[in-house]
Amino acid sequence: MSAIRLETQKLIRPMICDPENWFIAARSDQIKRRPLRRIILERPLVLFRESSGRVSVLEDRCPHKHVALSLGRVVGDSIECPYHGLCFGGDGRCTAQPSRAPDEPLPQKRVPHFMVVEQDDWIWVYLGANPAPPPPPRYEKILGYGWFELHNLMQAPMDLVLENGLDCSHTGIAHRGLFRSYPSQLVTSSIEETATGIRVRTTGERGSGGLDSMVLAGRGTAIEHIDAFIRPHTVRVDYWVRKAHFITILICTPETASRTRVYTRQGVLMPPVTALATLASQLVTRKIVSQDKRILENQAAQIELFGGPSRIATMADAPTTWLRRAFRAKSPASAATNAYPGPRGEKVHYTL
Ligand code: FES
Ligand SMILES: [Fe+2]
Repeated sequence: MSAIRLETQKLIRPMICDPENWFIAARSDQIKRRPLRRIILERPLVLFRESSGRVSVLEDRCPHKHVALSLGRVVGDSIECPYHGLCFGGDGRCTAQPSRAPDEPLPQKRVPHFMVVEQDDWIWVYLGANPAPPPPPRYEKILGYGWFELHNLMQAPMDLVLENGLDCSHTGIAHRGLFRSYPSQLVTSSIEETATGIRVRTTGERGSGGLDSMVLAGRGTAIEHIDAFIRPHTVRVDYWVRKAHFITILICTPETASRTRVYTRQGVLMPPVTALATLASQLVTRKIVSQDKRILENQAAQIELFGGPSRIATMADAPTTWLRRAFRAKSPASAATNAYPGPRGEKVHYTL
């Protein structure tokens, strides 16, 4: 077993998330020449861009005297520690030691370094033990759509954030007058297990004529959406309203068991006013996410205070119950006993 594997096991509590996955460490535009510190699965990392443009990720700790390398600067293709100036390349090797005896060799100790892939404007990092892991997922920005991105740090565990992303039944209350209005329509959610998680198709909703975002539909127009949980950290939501299509991709990076960095990307297609609709959706979505953040941080603090599972489960909770099963199914803690206990799908009716 490799040293990194042992260290990973020591540092990462299994319930947060399986480390054998790719995680978003930052948006591409956040990594310029200045180093950036990020924490993923309780592991402090430093990201920096070499002169070639390549992004490197090292453990954010100088092996000399533990100072954070992210406080230093990038020199050529190395990062320079701000204390005694030892430099380390993207492969973790020491490349310079300013204070040294005439024949003293460079220190051999390497800083742990991690696999990085920059794609679709995100920096993906792999902290697991597989020397050749499958590539990170693709989320290309489809041409013709308007795109924007939000980035939030939530004081809440990743599973609560994912649950919130898939849960429709809170929208008419927590986002009342913004996303939906008070629940009044009987809808059907068809939940099905997929190879990568779960997929929930909700039909029966029509434009109510209320002054929320669904006003787009116009009174009586069919609104359809598919909400998917993609293991281990992603929710994708697709809405179709007339000829418009909204794609929301929410990807969580767990910093710790109780803190989650959330990357939300949305694509909007609404010809011939796609640009305007994208701008409007950005304003609305920003507000919606801030409302969710407030609720989620309160929920997390309450769970910390009171503990215990939910004490009520409603019909409208079925999608998130399935999400929780799918989430647990691949977590290391339950892998040994895993089997989906329920049916492979379910259909529920509730007011939305
Ligand atoms: S602590 Fe980094 S060079 Fe001394
Ligand atoms: Fe919400």
